[in-house]
Amino acid sequence: MRELLGAIVILLAVAFGAEAINLKAYNGNVDFDHMGHRKKFGCSDCHEGPPRYIERTKDSAHKLCLGCHKKMGAGPVVHCSDCHKPA
Ligand code: HEC
Ligand code: HEC
Ligand code: HEC
Repeated sequence: MRELLGAIVILLAVAFGAEAINLKAYNGNVDFDHMGHRKKFGCSDCHEGPPRYIERTKDSAHKLCLGCHKKMGAGPVVHCSDCHKPA
């Protein structure tokens, strides 16, 4: 039963996972191209367990986003404004 529920959660997540996610930050919101990233990576590269809302702090977000960009040598790392777009 738990497996079944897990599978349903994942199916719903795949069906309804947002394409572009606007992450709020006081120093400029971050447009995250979820679908673009999903095409290149597996869900579990970013989500632990069933893919859904990720709890974030500044540090954990920077660790996730910048950590992978550094490792891959791709995507914004240096310039804050590559991610944070002032309104
Ligand atoms: C790869 C993209 C990226 C880069 C580059 C980046 N950030 Fe962020 N930052 C984020 C994300 C994502 C969040 C979390 C937003 C959220 O969860 O709502 C965040 C959160 C923050 C927050 C917390 C905002 C709040 O409302 O609590 C601050 C402050 C911040 N970043 C400063 C910086 C500074 C300064 C730089 C440059 C040195 C920088 N960031 C570079 C993606 C980035
Ligand atoms: C490169 C990292 C990354 C990958 C790969 C990724 N996600 Fe996400 N996903 C995120 C982040 C960051 C959030 C946080 C957005 C939020 O919580 O508002 C998120 C949020 C979600 C949400 C919540 C939707 C929303 O609007 O908040 C769902 C559902 C989801 N992801 C499903 C998936 C599925 C399914 C896959 C694999 C096919 C996947 N994700 C791959 C980073 C990723
Ligand atoms: C698992 C690795 C990985 C994670 C995690 C990741 N990225 Fe990326 N990101 C990439 C790669 C690789 C590129 C370069 C894509 C290209 O050049 O085609 C990229 C490119 C980008 C770009 C440049 C524009 C674009 O979409 O191509 C932005 C902005 C961006 N990422 C934001 C984020 C934010 C914000 C997060 C965290 C919520 C994040 N990324 C997490 C791998 C990752």
